Amino acid sequence: MKVRKKGIFITATGTDIGKTFVSALLVKYLRKQGIHAGYFKPVLSGAEKKEGILIDSDVHYVCSTARLEKNAEELVSYAFEPAVSPHLAAKLENKLIKKEKILEDFLRVSQEFDYMVVEGCGGIVCPLRLDEDPLMLADVIQMLKLELMIVASAGLGTINTVVLTVDFAKKHNISIQGIILNHYEEGNYLHEDNRRQIERLTGIPVIALVRENADEPEFCIKFG
Ligand SMILES: Nc1ncnc2c1ncn2[C@@H]1O[C@H](COP(=O)(O)OP(=O)(O)OP(=O)(O)O)[C@@H](O)[C@H]1O
Ligand SMILES: [Mg+2]
Repeated sequence: MKVRKKGIFITATGTDIGKTFVSALLVKYLRKQGIHAGYFKPVLSGAEKKEGILIDSDVHYVCSTARLEKNAEELVSYAFEPAVSPHLAAKLENKLIKKEKILEDFLRVSQEFDYMVVEGCGGIVCPLRLDEDPLMLADVIQMLKLELMIVASAGLGTINTVVLTVDFAKKHNISIQGIILNHYEEGNYLHEDNRRQIERLTGIPVIALVRENADEPEFCIKFG
């Protein structure tokens, strides 16, 4: 599969695992290295809006953390207010998620940057449209031709969720660059063992560790 080198698709082992927190640190890190890095979020649910304009979202968090001076609306294709799965949020708002619009927006935004960090929604299995013409998040990842970065919690339960995520991605021919362990504590024997066993069971490297309230990721392997 052809892979676009200058970017990464951030997924996680589930919702609320830290995709936005980690994406913000990655964009901030790359920009500090002098790489003109940008951010894009194809589909957002649970958006806070005022008079139709996004006022708080993952996009706002990343832009303010990474000092990315962009209008949030330009960095997202679909933003829905209900905090539910995108296929349901779109249905509740009488909208249809179209992959052509996501591709068009992504290509427009990526023209402005040298490296794109794209944040998914939920985990790797995330329906965007479940009608006669279904669309899953995995279809979008394949369409954007980006490698995957999997954000996972360093704690209990992560071996199961990481292995399932890696297996699903491989089954869908999605290349995986690595895994980032969030909420990692040095010296915590569970976290340290999880790190080793995940690499052993999946063959995928842990690229970085992110501590509680970290200002930057701790890279184990060169990134960017
Ligand atoms: N390393 C960390 N240190 C402190 N807080 C964190 C860390 N990682 C995540 N959080 C917090 O946990 C919450 C969930 O994280 P985040 O919003 O990044 O998850 P997400 O995977 O992007 O969720 P969603 O699926 O809704 O997009 C947020 O309040 C975030 O600030
Ligand atoms: Mg998020």
